[in-house]
Amino acid sequence: MAKAKTYYFCQECGYQSSSWLGRCPECGKFGTFAEEVVKMESGKRKVESGKMQSLPKRIQDVTYSETKRIPTHCGEFDRVLGGGIVPGSLLLLGGEPGIGKSTLLLQTALAIHDRKLLYVSGEESEQQIKMRADRIGFSTEQCYVVSETVTQRIFEHVDAVQPDILVVDSIQTISTEDIDSPAGSVSQIRQCTTEFQHYAKTTGVPVLLIGHITKDGTLAGPKVMEHIVDAVLQFEGDRNYGYRILRALKNRFGSTAEIGIFEMLGSGLREVPNPSEFLLSQRDETLSGAAVAATLEGARPMFIEVQSLVSSAVYGTPQRNANGFDMRRLSMLLAVLEKRCGFKLGAKDVFLNIAGGLRVNDPAIDLAVACAILSSNVDIPISPRIAFAAELGLSGEVRPVARVEQRVAEADRLGFEKIFVSKYNLRELDKKRYHIEVVPASVIEEAFRALFA
Ligand code: TYD
Ligand code: MG
Repeated sequence: MAKAKTYYFCQECGYQSSSWLGRCPECGKFGTFAEEVVKMESGKRKVESGKMQSLPKRIQDVTYSETKRIPTHCGEFDRVLGGGIVPGSLLLLGGEPGIGKSTLLLQTALAIHDRKLLYVSGEESEQQIKMRADRIGFSTEQCYVVSETVTQRIFEHVDAVQPDILVVDSIQTISTEDIDSPAGSVSQIRQCTTEFQHYAKTTGVPVLLIGHITKDGTLAGPKVMEHIVDAVLQFEGDRNYGYRILRALKNRFGSTAEIGIFEMLGSGLREVPNPSEFLLSQRDETLSGAAVAATLEGARPMFIEVQSLVSSAVYGTPQRNANGFDMRRLSMLLAVLEKRCGFKLGAKDVFLNIAGGLRVNDPAIDLAVACAILSSNVDIPISPRIAFAAELGLSGEVRPVARVEQRVAEADRLGFEKIFVSKYNLRELDKKRYHIEVVPASVIEEAFRALFA
């Protein structure tokens, strides 16, 4: 007999309680509990005794064979996955609505022409999927599509098609008959994910799930999912710009340092193997207030233009505004410039923008930010053939950054003439190997004099 039972779930973190709570003891949010009806087969969860699946072994006795990954035929995607899709793995692709998750997975599905693939969509009809596929263009004859939202029905299709890879478009639209609460609720998401995990682990067929993320950037509801799946990939970017970044937030089979970069075109996503060339293409030599930062995104060098505008404050309180850069860090850098370089920025409006709508967390961008602000303040342009790679300390010292060699080598390759680095990074560099001039600085004043004196 199936018995119906009601539980209360925190819609933020998935915490489960048998009674309603005003405040979630797990994540501390207020008013997030909602009632969900969970129908459970009685005794389903009981472990049958005497039927031990596996016995503990000594670790040296455990054997495994290196499973062969399935290449996606997309270099950027493979790079993030760590060399292809691992058989039997469960993958979650998260991202804001409209960022291109369906496009990425459909395109990948169409590109893997040597495997049989089932693309299940709970969001779009088969005609809509076909229209999208026509935009992208394809030649595969082994991609099956179906519009379906109930897991039991999906597994029937799976039995009929016997795919090598299963793609499910949006876990939030899928529901299981075992649970009465609506699709997208925490209990549904958890249960459906578990079912797909079970399928993946027992058959060895990899399952790729799409999940939406909420405005604050967390995967909607399913913090619970993140523990179940083998890899969490995030697809992000500014919708007003064409490029998209694919990142691994968790990956049991590869590094989380790799990122993949794509550009959204009318005909689907294009791989961008050389992001710096892409980000630096539109640059006017004569403008003040711009500086190029040699940053690393994951393990990849990315050269990004920092733009700044410093002007006299019209109103009493000066405005500070940053796009793609941490506001508190900007305030700190302004205080350092004020104190160490003697600029009266206290009465100025300061606007900062990272070109291309990127968000940068690499501290190596500091020097470029400071120099862009100074350049705008004195209204002297910095040559677009100069790059910066250093962090700034509170006393105005130019601090060393990680993997400086990689940054300098990339700057050299891209044809930059000069790169400013910390003096303390110098000994890691074999300057003879590069054509580029490496300019060391130990305090911000030195960099400032070298640039504007
Ligand atoms: P979509 O993959 O539907 O986003 P998600 O599944 O993450 O919600 O993509 C949405 C946007 O991508 C949509 O606004 C149109 C755009 N797009 C293109 O620019 N070119 C294309 O070839 C395709 C298929 C979509
Ligand atoms: Mg979609």
